Amino acid sequence: MNHIGTMELSTERLLLRKIRIEDDRDMFEQWASDPQVTKYLTWGAHRSIEDTRQIIALWLKDQDEPHVYRWVIELKSIGKVIGTIDLVSVDTRHRCGVFGYCLSAQYWNQGIASEALKVMLTYLFVEAGFHRIEASHLIENPASGKVMLKCGMKLEGNKRKKFLGHDGEFHDLLVYGLLEEEFLID
Ligand SMILES: CC(C)(COP(=O)(O)OP(=O)(O)OC[C@H]1O[C@@H](n2cnc3c(N)ncnc32)[C@H](O)[C@@H]1OP(=O)(O)O)[C@@H](O)C(=O)NCCC(=O)NCCS
Repeated sequence: MNHIGTMELSTERLLLRKIRIEDDRDMFEQWASDPQVTKYLTWGAHRSIEDTRQIIALWLKDQDEPHVYRWVIELKSIGKVIGTIDLVSVDTRHRCGVFGYCLSAQYWNQGIASEALKVMLTYLFVEAGFHRIEASHLIENPASGKVMLKCGMKLEGNKRKKFLGHDGEFHDLLVYGLLEEEFLID
């Protein structure tokens, strides 16, 4: 493993970078306050910009650490952040990372998450030396699985009733993975 942390990544439309204090309003307005965005996530929509500022303060504390991989997604054409993509867990011993992502609903279905995931996977496999990257989504959230499949990930199984949703019900979680050798061959 070669932990190199959150370096800037650029694609045609996107700049993936560390968060800044001054991103607070865009983060709050674009995605963090929207229950439509957080419907299938572990956290609930922020009620005030203070909630968002607290999260940003937490992120600022560790985002320069070499084992932290956490980007905001800036849309170059507007110069604003519209979402995040990050490793929510890193297992150095097994060179494995688990990611999550979320995006302002205004920009869904334009290939943005796929563009961000592709560049992040390249970075994690090629530069940081990860062996396996995985993620999961609620069965009711197929758009997320579509992004993973489009980026070459494989559906590995269904963890039945694994996830307690905001609705108080347990939901099935579909698990996807991608290995370094599969990614590098493609
Ligand atoms: C999941 C999410 C990140 C996808 O972002 P995105 O930028 O819209 O993704 P993309 O445009 O790259 O791809 C979405 C794909 O899902 C498809 N899709 C959208 N809604 C769908 C649905 N209800 N059923 C099946 N496919 C669907 C789109 O058609 C597109 O596929 P295509 O390119 O083959 O047409 C975004 O919807 C989001 O932020 N959701 C809220 C947070 C979230 O759920 N995060 C994931 C947690 S696991």
